[in-house]
Amino acid sequence: MAKKQILIVPGDGIGQEVTAAGKKVLEAIALKFNHEFTYDEALIGHVAIEATGDPLPEATLVKMKNSDAVLFGAVGHPKYDNDPSAKVRPEQGLLKMRKELGLYANIRPIKLFDELLGASSIKPEILKGADILFFRELTGDIYFGEKGRKNNNDTAFDVAEYSRYEVERIGRKAFEAAGTRRKKLCSVDKANVLETSRLWREVIQKLALEYPDIEVEYQFVDATAMLLIKDPCRFDVVVTANLFGDILTDEASQIAGSMGMLASASIGDGTGVYEPIHGSAHDITGKGIANPLASILSVALLLDISFGMKEESELVISAVDKVLKAGYRTGDIADAHTPQEKLLGTHAMGEEVLKFL
Ligand code: NAD
Ligand code: IPM
Ligand code: MN
Repeated sequence: MAKKQILIVPGDGIGQEVTAAGKKVLEAIALKFNHEFTYDEALIGHVAIEATGDPLPEATLVKMKNSDAVLFGAVGHPKYDNDPSAKVRPEQGLLKMRKELGLYANIRPIKLFDELLGASSIKPEILKGADILFFRELTGDIYFGEKGRKNNNDTAFDVAEYSRYEVERIGRKAFEAAGTRRKKLCSVDKANVLETSRLWREVIQKLALEYPDIEVEYQFVDATAMLLIKDPCRFDVVVTANLFGDILTDEASQIAGSMGMLASASIGDGTGVYEPIHGSAHDITGKGIANPLASILSVALLLDISFGMKEESELVISAVDKVLKAGYRTGDIADAHTPQEKLLGTHAMGEEVLKFL
């Protein structure tokens, strides 16, 4: 029996809908294993701007720092997506949260549930057995360097920067993870062009000497984008910079069938934050059709990584597996060629998972 304080931060759009399902799974786990989880809620993103003018209010940040873990939804709103001149933006809240909490490692598991072999647009024989663990650096790179305009507003710039220690700490996490898996690490950069990538490669090459049992390969990001689709099974652990990791993992979500299946853990110096990799998806917000499994699988990561609750975590993953085996699907993972599937909305899908807990 453990006592834990969990902060729920649903944010915007479908973030609200999928996080509600994630929270119910936490409640079910607490009940089953006799844990005492207490919950609080806080604002971020567009909803926080509307309420306070600030995409990450100080009160939210304080609550995050005082919690044992954060379950996060998504931020974003079309109002800002279509207004490049907006000075205050929902995404600033997310980036500030990552920086302030020191969340330098974003772990994104890409694991295909066998039942979803037919849901991907990639051929089943190419996909079968795919299991990749991405380590995306999360507090550096072009996201956090100096940005601005010059030449009378006619030129814009975003500076990409990495320091040695930033590469080393994410690199170490990736090497350690590879050691517990198939002992293969692929470091992805653009060292043929970018100075930050040349530092990246230098640091990873040096680290590799400390991990002689790990087979390391180096790939350029453009080739990696191609290899992920051509031969996803060649990858075990992948480590890469912030922007490359953002793009490659949205691509890799197709290996798992849908963005709606991909969970992530953002960890670092303090409280860990657990969130789907997808955004606020305003094209489907309010329709009750968003896939809640990414949020539910984020709960599994939360239990495992922040609370050390392996058994609880595995139970959540196996409940998802059983729901899929029973033929339940949200629209994004439905396979038109499998008529025996049962199409469910967000709420009903969450309820099916609860039944298996
Ligand atoms: P998105 O991830 O919100 O959506 C991309 C596509 O995937 C959409 O067609 C959407 O309907 C679908 N999709 C996403 N999640 C799904 C789910 N759970 N179930 C079913 N379908 C799902 O990306 P976008 O459209 O590029 O961005 C929308 C907004 O979200 C933007 O404002 C963006 O800045 C923000 N965003 C936020 C985060 C985050 O908070 N971590 C991540 C990505 C995008
Ligand atoms: C993600 C998102 C964010 C990112 C945006 C919304 C700032 O795409 O969490 O993957 O680029 O990191
Ligand atoms: Mn992204």
